[in-house]
Amino acid sequence: MGNGRFIAFEGGEGAGKSTQARMLADILEQRGFEVVLTREPGGTPGAEVIRNLLLDPPGNGWGAEAEALLFAAARADHVARTIKPALERGAWVISDRFVDSSRAYQGGAGHVGDEAVQALHAIGSGGLRPDLTILVEIDERRMLERLAERDGDDSDAIGGRSREYHRAVGQAFHDLAGRDPDGFAVIDGGGSPDEVQARVLAAIESFLDTQS
Ligand code: TMP
Repeated sequence: MGNGRFIAFEGGEGAGKSTQARMLADILEQRGFEVVLTREPGGTPGAEVIRNLLLDPPGNGWGAEAEALLFAAARADHVARTIKPALERGAWVISDRFVDSSRAYQGGAGHVGDEAVQALHAIGSGGLRPDLTILVEIDERRMLERLAERDGDDSDAIGGRSREYHRAVGQAFHDLAGRDPDGFAVIDGGGSPDEVQARVLAAIESFLDTQS
């Protein structure tokens, strides 16, 4: 492996992760690093097809276990074809969501369980963990406002689930971060994108120091 780091952004719906992932990628590029900005589900042609199957499912949609398997399959392709090669050549990888989304959505809110999700991740992706997972948290009222702004009446199969489901996702993320304070940085997603970005940069400062 080279000097690149693997950073994942996580959080519930409308937390501002995608904006922050893009802003961080821009800053790192400006500092001269090679950066691969990617997302889940997705990040390879095959995983993008699985993304469509998950977010716009055929028929009556997927059961909880099938959904967890599909996310794990998309991730296995993403890790093998995009993330690992990038890290091996020393690039930074910034992923908008990774396995902790499966742990919170399918494992926690979807009741598949954390052990099962971790087992699928071990089989599919060798259990790869980011160097740091940045959990962007916003309160529930803000999440509902941002969802309404983002999706209107046109939410996808997962974003459109009940308020209780999304509350359980938020709680599951919070609990995961609480159990692994070294692996997670919990960031307040409130305020302007620039304000949130300053918090993100503070969280990854130690990685940047070791590179300059
Ligand atoms: P996005 O809206 O952040 O692009 O993510 C797509 C949706 O997929 C979002 O509702 C979160 C959900 N998701 C899971 O349920 N499990 C996962 O493992 C991932 C990566 C995403």
